[in-house]
Amino acid sequence: MTPINQEKKGTMMGYKHKLLAGLAFLTVAVALPAKAETISMFCSATDYELCEEGAQKWAKSSGNEVKINRTPQNLDDAIPIYQQLFASKSADVDLLYVDVIWLGMMKDHFSDLVSLVPEAEVKAHFASATDAARIDDKLVAMPFYIDTGLMFYRKDLLEKYGKQAPKTWDELTATAKEIQDGERKAGNADMWGYAWQGRSYEGLTCDAVEWIAAGGGGTILSDKGEVTINNPATVAALTRARGWIDTISPKGVLNYDEESSRALFESGNAVFHRNWPYVWGTSQAQGGKLVDKVGVSALPIGADGQKSSGALGTAYLAVSKYSAKQEKAAELLRYMVGLEDQKMRAIKGGYNPTVEALYTDADVLAKIPFMPMAKAAFEESVARPSAATGKNYNRVSRTFYRAVHDIISGTGDVAEEVAQLEKKLKRDVKAN
Ligand code: GLC
Repeated sequence: MTPINQEKKGTMMGYKHKLLAGLAFLTVAVALPAKAETISMFCSATDYELCEEGAQKWAKSSGNEVKINRTPQNLDDAIPIYQQLFASKSADVDLLYVDVIWLGMMKDHFSDLVSLVPEAEVKAHFASATDAARIDDKLVAMPFYIDTGLMFYRKDLLEKYGKQAPKTWDELTATAKEIQDGERKAGNADMWGYAWQGRSYEGLTCDAVEWIAAGGGGTILSDKGEVTINNPATVAALTRARGWIDTISPKGVLNYDEESSRALFESGNAVFHRNWPYVWGTSQAQGGKLVDKVGVSALPIGADGQKSSGALGTAYLAVSKYSAKQEKAAELLRYMVGLEDQKMRAIKGGYNPTVEALYTDADVLAKIPFMPMAKAAFEESVARPSAATGKNYNRVSRTFYRAVHDIISGTGDVAEEVAQLEKKLKRDVKAN
C-alpha cells in the first residue's frame, strides 16, 4: 500500500466516523419535539376574538406560543404602524393581517410563500383570491376571508309593508323612506331607513365605489391607471347619496364606520344596512334583538342591465420578510387560512371562507344559508384600484374619500366638484 493509499483509507475512515456520528445526531434530533417558538402576529380589531381562538388552538396543538397584537379599530391607522416595522426591518412581528388593498403597497416586505405553503393548499382557495396575491412572480400572502359589501335588511319589516329586497338603489331609497315613515308614525320616532359608512376614511371609498360602479361609472381609475371618475354615473350616484343624509340616514352617518353603522342597525332602528358579511354573525348571535329578523342580499344595481357591485375586501395573512422564524410563522399562517380554521370562523362569526369547498359544507350552510348568494356577490364584486396604483393607492383613495365626504355633506354643485376631484386625482397619479 502506498502512503497515498494509506492516506486515502484514513480519510475514508474519517468520513465513515463523521457519517455515523451525523446519523446518531439525526436520530436524536428526530426523536426530540421540534423547538417551541413564540410567533408574534397581528389580528384585526373586528375579528379579534376568532383570530385569537384560531391562533391559540394552533399554539396548543403544536406546542408553540402565539403573541397577538390588535390592529387599531380603523384599519387605515394600522398602515403607519406597519410602515414603521418595515422601515426598521423589525423582527418583532412574524405574521401580518393584510387588507387586500395593501398587497401592492407592502409586497416588498412580505416573504414569498411559494416555497412555504404547499401548492395543494394554495389551490384549495378561490383562484381569484390567490391570484390577487401573486405579484412579481411571488405569492406574497394567502387569503383569510372574503369581504364583499352586502345589504342587510329587516326581513320582518319588509314583509310587514309588502316589499321585496330592492333591486336598484332608487328602489332602496324609496322603500327605506316608506318603511321609516310608517314605523315613525307607528310610534318608533328613532327609526331610520338606511345605515352605512359615511365617515371620511377607507370605508367611504368602498361605499362610494359601490354606488358608482353599480351605475356603470367605473372604479375611480381604469385598470391601466387612467382617471375615469368624471362621468355622469358618478354625479348621479353622489347626488343620490347626498339626498340620503337627514332623510333616510341620520346626519351622524357622515361620521359612521362599520361598527357605528352596525350599532344603529342592531339596535333595531334601521331598515337597511350596508356592511361586510360578519354582520350576519353579530346580528344572529344569541340574545341579539334581530335574531331571525334579518335578510341579506347583494347590493342594489343602478338600473336594469347593470350589475351589483359590492366592494371586494378580502383579508390576507402574510409572513414578514424580516421575521427570524419564517418556517414557523408559515406553519401558523397555513393553519389560520386552512379549512379547519376558516370553517370555525364561518360557523361562529359568519366570516365568508376563501376555501372553496366550504361553500358546499353542510355545517357552514346550516349557519349561513345565503352562502350561494355571497359567492355570486363575490364573483361580481368590484376591486378598488389598488393594483393600478400600487404604492400610491393610499394617496389616491384619501383624495377620493375626502372629496366624496365634502360632496355628500355639502351643498355645492356635484358635477363641478367631481370635475375638481378628477384634476386632483390626475395630480396624485402623476406624482407616483
Ligand atoms: C373591511 C374590508 C377592507 C376595507 C375596510 C374599510 O375591513 O375587509 O378591505 O378596506 O373594511 O373600512
